[in-house]
Amino acid sequence: MEVPTPRAIYDELNRYVIGQHRAKQTVATAAYNHYKRIAVKGAPGGDLLRKSNILLIGPTGCGKTHIARQLARILDVPFAVCDATEYTEAGYYGKDVEVMVAELLFKTDQDVAAASRGIIFVDEVDKIARRSHGARTGAGARDIGGEGVQQGLLKLLEGREVFVPQNVTQHWNKHDFVQVDTTDILFICAGTFSDLAEVDPGRGIGFGGEDVTRKHRRVPQKALLEYGFTPEFLGRLPVLMHMHMLEEDDLLRILTEPPDSIIKEYKVLLGLDDVNLDFTEDGLRAIVQQATRRKLGARGLRSIVEEVMREIMFNAPERKGSTQVIDAALVHTRMDSMEEELPAQQ
Ligand SMILES: Nc1ncnc2c1ncn2[C@@H]1O[C@H](COP(=O)(O)OP(=O)(O)OP(=O)(O)O)[C@@H](O)[C@H]1O
Ligand SMILES: [Mg+2]
Repeated sequence: MEVPTPRAIYDELNRYVIGQHRAKQTVATAAYNHYKRIAVKGAPGGDLLRKSNILLIGPTGCGKTHIARQLARILDVPFAVCDATEYTEAGYYGKDVEVMVAELLFKTDQDVAAASRGIIFVDEVDKIARRSHGARTGAGARDIGGEGVQQGLLKLLEGREVFVPQNVTQHWNKHDFVQVDTTDILFICAGTFSDLAEVDPGRGIGFGGEDVTRKHRRVPQKALLEYGFTPEFLGRLPVLMHMHMLEEDDLLRILTEPPDSIIKEYKVLLGLDDVNLDFTEDGLRAIVQQATRRKLGARGLRSIVEEVMREIMFNAPERKGSTQVIDAALVHTRMDSMEEELPAQQ
């Protein structure tokens, strides 16, 4: 495998991931080191190289999943997204952690060689923190799962031969297992850690507050230990990165700039009906402001554009040859009418 340089990875990430400069640099470098390490395996000193699994911390809709998915695409390796909350300690009802590898295997059509150098994205990892200081969440409800799942994940993170169930989708086939070595699988864990500030309010390290800015807040290892991660677990995620909440200007660029941006997509879609779409600058701003109000980061953009476009889409086939202008007034009208409709639907 020809490993692209960190700069080459960064430049390609840059086309699709807006803002998050440090995260793009860090992820590009970690991935480069990871795949370089695989390439020199067996060479003198090769065993000294540590595996560079990554922990991403950042608010909802800032691009955690997005950056990981784009990384896998650039490196042309298989990619699976797993939700940490669906897994349980072996023996409990729920998925065993090996199923994460099975998900990756599924993406490769059961190609073990390809899967064993893929990327597994473990989302909502903050939800498997030990919840023994129950006051924080109310009940310490997930205590059974949390630490046990961390424990189970250790062997995957550091690299071990594991027995992976094949055909995770077919329950009657449960007894077919295949052996996979996870040494070369890159794990990217992510979470919002939205209640982190409450653990240690004195340091102001949370993301939920109003004062979240581009400034990079470093969460000290100690805060993550207090949050409920074991030292062993954190030790296997040596690359820790914060992603900041996206600002209005970032959101504006996300709407229009990436090759697969939402606005480009809608223009193509309506172009098929021979309808021309024209978003004014203030129209785009209005969409972004709606998204900012919802505090969902870039995650909120799509549903807003969908709502704004709903009637235009419906009428498009009868408006061939026309140009539809989306300006701030139209966005506000659509948003207001949506808010009026909402209570009636309940
Ligand atoms: N920095 C970004 N640049 C371009 N697009 C982005 C960026 N961040 C998010 N997006 C867009 O928003 C969508 C949602 O982002 P993503 O799923 O990565 O959020 P997240 O940080 O994983 O949030 P959550 O914690 O809710 O899972 C992505 O599919 C992508 O289209
Ligand atoms: Mg996500």
